[in-house]
Amino acid sequence: MSQSAQDLGIGREALERRLSDASDLVTVALDALLPRADGPEQRLTEAMRYAALGPGRRLRPFFALEAAKLFDIEERSVLRAACALECIHAYSLVHDDLPAMDDDDYRRGRPAVHRAYDEATALLAGDALQSFAFEILAHPDTHDEAEVRIELTRRLARAAGAQGLAGGQMIDILGIKDDPGVVLRMQRLKTGALIGYAFEIAVILAQPSDAKRQALLSFAQDLGLAYQILDDVTDAEADRRKTSKKRPAKANFVTLMGVDEARARLSMLREQCRAHLDIFGARATYLRESADFVLDR
Ligand code: IPE
Ligand code: IPE
Ligand code: MG
Ligand code: MG
Repeated sequence: MSQSAQDLGIGREALERRLSDASDLVTVALDALLPRADGPEQRLTEAMRYAALGPGRRLRPFFALEAAKLFDIEERSVLRAACALECIHAYSLVHDDLPAMDDDDYRRGRPAVHRAYDEATALLAGDALQSFAFEILAHPDTHDEAEVRIELTRRLARAAGAQGLAGGQMIDILGIKDDPGVVLRMQRLKTGALIGYAFEIAVILAQPSDAKRQALLSFAQDLGLAYQILDDVTDAEADRRKTSKKRPAKANFVTLMGVDEARARLSMLREQCRAHLDIFGARATYLRESADFVLDR
């Protein structure tokens, strides 16, 4: 817990509550939005629900909601865009765990979708979650102005595609070692793009000044990088305790620089994240403290 959070009276419990309130809000909204089928395709809608409503932290939607609180944005729009973002994230995890990718049997402490159902269902559930994300964004309920809906859609499509998540997964699978530039690019695309979108939602909806836009996007970039380093460090430390995955990472920040340097990089990025938000003053207190909290593992 950082000193300033304590000074402001924001304890660990308050941050945890804020995260879990946001998670509940998004889970309820997603539950209401996700399709239910009566016919034989019910297996698919059940697998979609298993993937999207499972016990994840809903961090990307949480950050989207927090970023929106820096401005006066209608919650309905942010919440729907945050649900779309979480559908893309859920799809990415379903495909990431498949035997052709990381071949992981467990996700979020329970069987991965291809183990709870089967591989074909997991492929289709991922496909359908991805389509559904864009259906949510394009729906008139997301925003009154079609141009805003188009921009929300365009930016998420980019974050999920070849210049985002899918491109990053390609680099990951290729396992190019010993090149810091390639590992950094992989992270930017694989994890950074979707985390970045959480903040792009606020930028699209609030149209802030250039300085605020830049500050928020720089914050998002450092947060995304720090989050991936944290994930790599956590995986490496878990591996040491012999709970290793079937396919250990081919190349990541830990294989590149070792745990100690990765942790040093992580704490530098945490400091940078705090500084980026100075321009928002006290209004960014929760965003600042919650990012710090999320990265404090
Ligand atoms: C896991 O994402 C994959 C990474 C990009 C590191 P999260 O850590 O947000 O996973 P959930 O959604 O809480 O399960
Ligand atoms: C998760 O990446 C999926 C995406 C970021 C698309 P990893 O394979 O690195 O993370 P975990 O360990 O399976 O969650
Ligand atoms: Mg992977
Ligand atoms: Mg994986």
